[in-house]
Amino acid sequence: MQRSLILLKPDCVQRRLIGEVLSRFEAKGLQIVGLKMLQVTPELSKQHYAEHVEKPFYQSLEDFITAAPVVAIALEGLEAITVIRDMLGATNGLKAAPGTLRGDFSSSRQMNLVHASDSPESAERELGLYFRPEEFCEYSMNLTPFMR
Ligand code: PPS
Repeated sequence: MQRSLILLKPDCVQRRLIGEVLSRFEAKGLQIVGLKMLQVTPELSKQHYAEHVEKPFYQSLEDFITAAPVVAIALEGLEAITVIRDMLGATNGLKAAPGTLRGDFSSSRQMNLVHASDSPESAERELGLYFRPEEFCEYSMNLTPFMR
């Protein structure tokens, strides 16, 4: 099992696509083990995108990610990191294949709807930025004990 940090970015929230994106992850069989809406601050943006802070596009990325709230999700599943990245499609929405989330809902390089961790190491670091350990929920999907 792997966990990944997903951010539904400001464009996803502003376009009222939270439910649409969440339902795709649920339909795939991924399990939500953490979920919150929050405002990313410039400080959190610099921590999250630490490896990009010196790049020419960083200030624009920070302005975008702090422009409206995001929804942070911890998703769990078998090979979840690769499975989720494949569901997202290419970083640039203009290049993402139809059928992927960005291919179907984004026509922009910057407003690409969703962030997902790109490796187990990034996932551990990013999950720690957005969630405290006690905020993760572990639960069974087995409802049989409650059948009456
Ligand atoms: S890089 O330079 O190849 O390492 O960057 P990449 O992995 O493709 O993207 C890292 C995150 O930066 C965002 N990005 C941009 N934002 C605005 N403008 C430009 N030109 C740009 N290039 C990359 C990209 O959406 C990635 O964000 P996340 O949240 O990780 O998807």
